[in-house]
Amino acid sequence: MKYSDINHVQNGFPDAFLWGGATAANQIEGAFDKGGKGLSTSDMAAYKDPYITGKVNNFTFNVTSKELEKYKTDPQNILFPKRWGIDFYNRYKEDIALFAEMGFNVFRLSVSWARIFPTGLENEPNEEGLAFYDKVFDECAKYGMEPLVTMSHYEMPITLTEKYNGWANRELVGLFEKYARVILNRYKHKVKYWITFNEMNMNLNSLYTGAGILADLVDNQLQAAYQASHHQFLASALAVKAAKEIIPNVKVGCMINHIESYAKTTKPVDQLQSLKSNQLNLFYPDVQARGEYPSYMTRYFADNNINLDIKEGDDKILQQGKVDFVSISYYMSHVTEAREDASKLAGSFDSPIKNEYLKLTQWDWPIDSIGLRIALIKLYDRYRLPLFVAENGLGAKDAISIDGKIHDDYRIDYLKQHILEMREAIKDGVDVMGYTTWGCIDLVSCGTSQISKRYGFIYVDLDDAGKGSFKRIPKDSFYWYKKVIASNGNNLE
Ligand code: BG6
Repeated sequence: MKYSDINHVQNGFPDAFLWGGATAANQIEGAFDKGGKGLSTSDMAAYKDPYITGKVNNFTFNVTSKELEKYKTDPQNILFPKRWGIDFYNRYKEDIALFAEMGFNVFRLSVSWARIFPTGLENEPNEEGLAFYDKVFDECAKYGMEPLVTMSHYEMPITLTEKYNGWANRELVGLFEKYARVILNRYKHKVKYWITFNEMNMNLNSLYTGAGILADLVDNQLQAAYQASHHQFLASALAVKAAKEIIPNVKVGCMINHIESYAKTTKPVDQLQSLKSNQLNLFYPDVQARGEYPSYMTRYFADNNINLDIKEGDDKILQQGKVDFVSISYYMSHVTEAREDASKLAGSFDSPIKNEYLKLTQWDWPIDSIGLRIALIKLYDRYRLPLFVAENGLGAKDAISIDGKIHDDYRIDYLKQHILEMREAIKDGVDVMGYTTWGCIDLVSCGTSQISKRYGFIYVDLDDAGKGSFKRIPKDSFYWYKKVIASNGNNLE
């Protein structure tokens, strides 16, 4: 977008805007032991019933070494919903046809590392795994839908956790580069939009989810999170470099879970804390977009006794692997204040300080569409790179009405408000490439392993225990989003 171009102020969404939906392999595919796939970290996320534990936001995607041992040797009576997902592995044709009916011109999905390298250690990839994604991308191409592919979305071969304690070990950099080169080469004619790692900043919240690390095996979790992040920065940069060599005109992005942090009061100390909390998340795209560590982290590492093992030549790798665009998931904003634990809370889904001006979802996530506009403006000011809203959506309980339909006006309202604010940001001059709503079809929740926390335009007949017909039913929001896309974001009614 050119600054001299006044059209964006009048029109909002550019003609080439990418509209679609987003998913992740471990939350949709199922078939966890089919097609030669190895066990992955997400196959070990056990469902813990919130009605028994009493916590709506019961975070299930954390695993200790003891739990892992139990899940492998004695998994009776334990549910692992990510193992069955929504059976996309067998139903991808039907699902992609429904996305096409809504008019998607982009579909965000991820490749499961363990489907391509079952343990991560093989020299040769698993042909059956590669062939599966060939079929999926060909199906997208049939409808003129661009795949936006995340190389690593919260999963990796479990062998790499067992052998190396995940990204704590530098060995993973080379293993990931091997995997990235294989998929880049294989899909070079089918995929031009890539994201290296999903929400890398979430390493700070869950070492297991983002980095495959069993937290009970490390002495200092903060140190481990940053060391793992350093390894992922290198892996991401090497993957970006490989993509540029292999695919002409490729576009590779980084991604964070953007939680805009507001100060609780106008007290300068609270304002300063909000700036610092935002920095802790922006640190990630700072490294990936600028190709170097920002100086504010030197002070943060020193204050927190973090000593990173950074080898000679790492700076060069980071410089050579800068991304083309910055993508975010956006679900909520946060409130912060000057307090001891403020930096620990930065980026966490659970803030103890409530924003009295915001309503909450059924899972207590604050709803703040204006926060999306603020985030987009600030990110664009900071990077001057195209932005992609790679996730945004409402997790809610849906019910089938007596007329057999799902009337999810609450979801329509949520998305409408966010799309409106995104449009305002574009009119403010921000270059947004595309928007993929999270969980365009109901899928297994990352955080709680429930399917009853539904995000989709398409209902999947399944309960949290995996019982149901797997039948797909378009919700009211399906027909609404179809009109949104057909009007390029002009008709939001
Ligand atoms: C994002 C993740 O953080 O949030 C997704 O990238 C996830 O994988 C989404 O599903 C929503 O979170 P949840 O816990 O409601 O599934």
